[in-house]
Amino acid sequence: MATLLITGGAGFIGSHTCLVLLEAGHNLVVLDNFSNSSPEALRRVASLAELPPATQQQRLRVIQGDIRQPADLQQAFTAASIDAVIHFAGLKAVGESVQHPLRYWDVNVAGSRQLLAAMQVAGCRTLVFSSSATLYGYPDQVPIPETAPVQPINPYGHSKAAVERLLADLAASEPGWRIASLRYFNPVGAHPSGRIGEDPNGIPNNLFPFITQVAVGRRQQLQVFGSDWPTSDGTGVRDYIHVMDLAEGHAAALTTLLGEPPQLLTLNLGSGQGHSVLEVVRALESASGRRVPYALVERRPGDAATTVADPTQASARLGWRTRRGLPEICRDGWAWQQANPEGYASAPPAG
Ligand code: NAD
Ligand code: WQD
Repeated sequence: MATLLITGGAGFIGSHTCLVLLEAGHNLVVLDNFSNSSPEALRRVASLAELPPATQQQRLRVIQGDIRQPADLQQAFTAASIDAVIHFAGLKAVGESVQHPLRYWDVNVAGSRQLLAAMQVAGCRTLVFSSSATLYGYPDQVPIPETAPVQPINPYGHSKAAVERLLADLAASEPGWRIASLRYFNPVGAHPSGRIGEDPNGIPNNLFPFITQVAVGRRQQLQVFGSDWPTSDGTGVRDYIHVMDLAEGHAAALTTLLGEPPQLLTLNLGSGQGHSVLEVVRALESASGRRVPYALVERRPGDAATTVADPTQASARLGWRTRRGLPEICRDGWAWQQANPEGYASAPPAG
């Protein structure tokens, strides 16, 4: 059992990971500024973990604060003696990063630097970092191994590459750092209870939340970006990973880091399976019993035809692999969307 600082723990991936970590017996301090999430997510995590009220304050402490603010970081590191940090906090919208690169270098890069400085002061040298398959840009080979070139094609990807570089420099500078950079492929789905899930602000940029919002009647139709890709049905192929598999991957990475000598691990977290846009549409239709109308439109700039992980290294180093496929992703993602058509805003006001 460890005490963990979870930055961005109220977000989509963070909230699911918090639940898995609480169920594994860890104590958590969450630092989140709620710029892209709701405190309601963490209330539901506490309820799903069935934390007795008397232990709740010790098991799941929530600090509203910003990773760029040294005082907020100090508050987090003095709330408890932190054994390890899982660092989710950041901005993640590719299009926004092209429009506002300074925001991405500020939150993702300068924020991470600030966090690492606070870890040094606190004497905490164990970190799991949210990296991304976006680092591979237009991949030269598929499935993509971790040895593939890092060649991001947008400011969001550049910011993740910069943090990976910084982590490698830090690990080389002094012994004792235990770091895992986890390169996620396409995280989707929700906890099977349907009580926590992905709650994007405004019009979703990503395929899966867009499709579930069409199925629930919030949006009229899906635009399929490109039907002339060199894939089986002409639509883009991605490696969709159930967010619960991803959450379990973080728990496995933590166990490996804490149980082995100091090291820097860089691992793909994906299923190794690719699915086309139209396959996802059909799977969601089948899980929901609803139709998902769509129109075939032009390709979206910056998209690759196919990105699929080679997950061999994660399996070898973490003893982890995905256990849930597209049917479970659609079943659980639909359960969340149907029970919360407006996301966390569907919840009755607290009190
Ligand atoms: P999310 O937006 O749901 O979660 C990020 C959380 O960080 C939010 O709760 C937000 O309020 C918080 N946050 C943002 N800026 C902050 C700041 N300055 N200080 C404190 N908290 C802050 O995103 P997510 O999908 O859960 O992604 C988590 C991490 O995984 C991100 O770093 C993202 O780049 C990375 N990632 C996500 C995906 C994906 O497709 N979802 C893929 C690869 C990597
Ligand atoms: C998947 C497929 C689209 C929307 C993005 C980021 C990446 C990572 C994960 C953080 C593609 C098609 C999509 C729509 C569509 N995030 N599509 N209609 O682009 O693989 O990855 O999220 O690190 O950095 O770039 O995911 O869900 O946007 O697209 O046809 O309305 O669905 O063209 O083939 P992507 P996505």
